[in-house]
Amino acid sequence: MQQVATKPSVSWDPDKFRLRRLVERLIDMGEVEVHDEPVALSEMSPMIEATTKALLFRRAGPEQHEVAAAVSATRSRAAAAFGVSEDKVREEYMRRMANPQKAFEVPKSEAPVQEIVETGDQINLLKLPFHVQHEYDGGPYITSGIDFTVDPVTKRSNVGCRRLMLRGKDKAGFNLTAPSDLRNIYLGCVKRGERLDCSFTIGAHPLDTMAAGSRSQGQEIDSLGTFRGAPLPVVKCVTNSLYVPADAEIVLEGYIDERGYIDNEGPYGEYMGFYGPMHGDPVFHVTAITRRRDVLHQSIKHGIGKHLGECDGAPLGAIQGEARAWQVLKAAGLDPVDVYSVGASGVGHHLRVSLRKRTDGDGRAAIAALLGAIMTVKHVWVTDEDVNIRRDNEMEWAMSTRFQADKDIVVLTNMREMPMDPSTTQRGTGAKAGFDCTFPFPRSNAVTMRVPEAPKIGGPARYQNVRQALEEGGPMHFAKLMSVLGSRDGRELVPEIEKLRDAGLLDRNPDGDYYMVGKNDPKKGPTTH
Ligand SMILES: Cc1cc2nc3c(=O)[nH]c(=O)nc-3n(C[C@H](O)[C@H](O)[C@H](O)COP(=O)(O)O)c2cc1C
Repeated sequence: MQQVATKPSVSWDPDKFRLRRLVERLIDMGEVEVHDEPVALSEMSPMIEATTKALLFRRAGPEQHEVAAAVSATRSRAAAAFGVSEDKVREEYMRRMANPQKAFEVPKSEAPVQEIVETGDQINLLKLPFHVQHEYDGGPYITSGIDFTVDPVTKRSNVGCRRLMLRGKDKAGFNLTAPSDLRNIYLGCVKRGERLDCSFTIGAHPLDTMAAGSRSQGQEIDSLGTFRGAPLPVVKCVTNSLYVPADAEIVLEGYIDERGYIDNEGPYGEYMGFYGPMHGDPVFHVTAITRRRDVLHQSIKHGIGKHLGECDGAPLGAIQGEARAWQVLKAAGLDPVDVYSVGASGVGHHLRVSLRKRTDGDGRAAIAALLGAIMTVKHVWVTDEDVNIRRDNEMEWAMSTRFQADKDIVVLTNMREMPMDPSTTQRGTGAKAGFDCTFPFPRSNAVTMRVPEAPKIGGPARYQNVRQALEEGGPMHFAKLMSVLGSRDGRELVPEIEKLRDAGLLDRNPDGDYYMVGKNDPKKGPTTH
């Protein structure tokens, strides 16, 4: 299997998907705190944690590195990465996934990431902006690494996000304990006594990070282009046979040695907002550092328990989670209006759905489908279509007025769950629940089931007086009477209404609508509007 197509099939802009270009756009949007003053590496994480904005440090550490942080930590910034408005992101993501792209090779002379090449004694990771991110982290980290490998057996390229823990001038520890394709590839290498070539990009467009954090079929390096919506330009590394994005900011080339899980990595502040433990992990050795002349380094906001919704992974994961949920609901024959993955719950643990109900069981069907199909979804709320599930106030209102705990809750036990969730059995199983916050179907149209909001009074006068309006227009509520009579006050109608009522000519139906007795008495039951 060939890793990449050899001929460029398209012209390409080496800056279009570079991190620096995106950061410039975010600055224009007012999304970035720019720090021109010198900032010690020890000061970075507290500053990153203290704001919901992205940050650009122009003089970080004694080397005065430029470092961008938290570039994808809100929905608006994630949407900017896709180049669409927030409300179009899910659709755009799904469109791109349905249009797979192929990577293409560019010559080294055209690859900005190889403008500067450092090998041998020039390599010095101790000069890169590795920094301590959480109080009990095992050491300084770079967490924006994207690793590129090829399975020596199948020749399939593999891509993932994996953090790097600083170990020395030319080596770093990295975390390869959770089940992953790379873990399987590497375990095969260890068995055969082989080292595994591996290159990391640091400083990546959020779409590359999103692709790397996902699993895909075929040559996985192609998936970065699929997420970008444009083929990925790649260049061959200088000291190993791998390909990496030619427009990255910086690449660490090297290999993972064959000794296996021999070095302690962690603890580290993990994606569920708790520390992951220290454990044995492999060692990555660096054989070259290549980079852009004006390299922009990157730090990822990650694992801050009380601010999980403002970490880089939350909006990216939410977009993917919502797209997946949408597909699951459609496949179950349901009619979703919106799906919303709540970032602060971790990796899509909390999902809200608004549904156009067509049968009474639709709410429960949605819950069963989502809890069963998506391992990461732990709690689901389903509402009727009129609830804006992106607003907490409306969710509270729906939960308090449409949900009865004895019949509207669905609990599933011994379900597969994220092992990092400390409330599970730690064997990866736990309970899941769904909350059906929908009204019974069909929903009654009685006035008591309608949602109060400000009246919409207006339009031209169509009748002369109350009597004519009700005789010709049929039963009406008070605000409608005002509209059809051209009233901008309302109080002047009351004496006429009272007079008609006293004369036994006017009455009101159970919904409170006014009608003329004997003329257009309402049918039994509530009126429609
Ligand atoms: C910012 C970020 C950092 C991550 N760090 C790690 C990590 O250090 N170790 C790990 O095993 N997975 C990590 N992941 C998850 C993996 O990247 C993800 O499971 C990926 O699909 C693994 O790729 P693979 O199965 O193709 O090897 C991280 C994900 C993100 C988004």
